[in-house]
Amino acid sequence: MMVTSLQSTVTLHNGVQMPWFGLGVFQVSDGQEVVDSVLAAIKAGYRSIDTAAIYGNEEGVGQAIKESGVDRSDLFITSKVWNADQGYETTLKAFDTSLQKLGLDYLDLYLIHWPTAGKYKDTWKALEKLYSEGRVKAIGVSNFHVHHLEDLLKDAAIKPMVNQVEYHPHLAQIELRAFCKEQGIQLEAWSPLKQGELLTNDTINAIATKYGKSAAQVILRWDLQNEVVTIPKSAKEQRIIDNANIFDFALAEEDMEAINRLNKDERVGPDPDNFNF
Ligand SMILES: NC(=O)c1ccc[n+]([C@@H]2O[C@H](COP(=O)([O-])OP(=O)(O)OC[C@H]3O[C@@H](n4cnc5c(N)ncnc54)[C@H](OP(=O)(O)O)[C@@H]3O)[C@@H](O)[C@H]2O)c1
Repeated sequence: MMVTSLQSTVTLHNGVQMPWFGLGVFQVSDGQEVVDSVLAAIKAGYRSIDTAAIYGNEEGVGQAIKESGVDRSDLFITSKVWNADQGYETTLKAFDTSLQKLGLDYLDLYLIHWPTAGKYKDTWKALEKLYSEGRVKAIGVSNFHVHHLEDLLKDAAIKPMVNQVEYHPHLAQIELRAFCKEQGIQLEAWSPLKQGELLTNDTINAIATKYGKSAAQVILRWDLQNEVVTIPKSAKEQRIIDNANIFDFALAEEDMEAINRLNKDERVGPDPDNFNF
């Protein structure tokens, strides 16, 4: 695996290049806060931005993309269809709304945000249509367990290119990671820092001291060495810069293993088998 810079990419199963590292913008307010965050990230060399219709900040993300002056073709923009919009026609409409808010004429990646029972197969058909029309370069899912993927794959014409799930040292997703690898579905980590909770972990801080790095940098490096795409969120410019400064060191196997041992299958977000939104 060649991950040498913030702009290094993984090749998805359809040939599309996706950056290994990006900025998440969940809980970043629309308007100046998200514009500043995205501009700071792009200035620091980030090329991948992860938003969603439900985050309510697609307009600000779009504004920052325009203001950045970076070619659209050099950026990788992800959004997601919200649960209330799932279903075939409603997803097509939601996609148009997201594009319009972002001010874009295509997305790089469009995801089903959650595996809404009884709906996600129709939603997937809509994503397949958008993909075949070239309006999105890659399609995928989010918060899908192995059983959701197996169910979807029974009827899918196109296999998802990405599954974006909660993933961090307390939730290493052993079974799901192996399944996705076997299927050629790229795993992507949300809440890679467990929303900040893991930054005070003693094991991670001891390793950080050893490498002269921060706890956040160690965790994000662990993601990449496990071949998981990662999209940490920060709304603070210095943290946005620092979080991405992970391409000048490598964790030794013993340190990877020490972090692996922290796994306790513990979530900070909802379990995809039991969500009520
Ligand atoms: N698909 C899904 O269902 C789903 C669900 C959740 C998240 N996501 C995506 O994944 C992205 C990341 O997840 P997340 O935002 O939940 O959590 P996260 O990236 O694990 O953690 C973000 C939190 O950590 C803080 N932080 C970031 N860098 C830091 C640093 N270097 N030092 C100290 N604190 C730091 C941030 O605060 P400051 O902003 O104050 O720096 C924020 O409170 C989201 O933004 C979103 O794009 C997707």
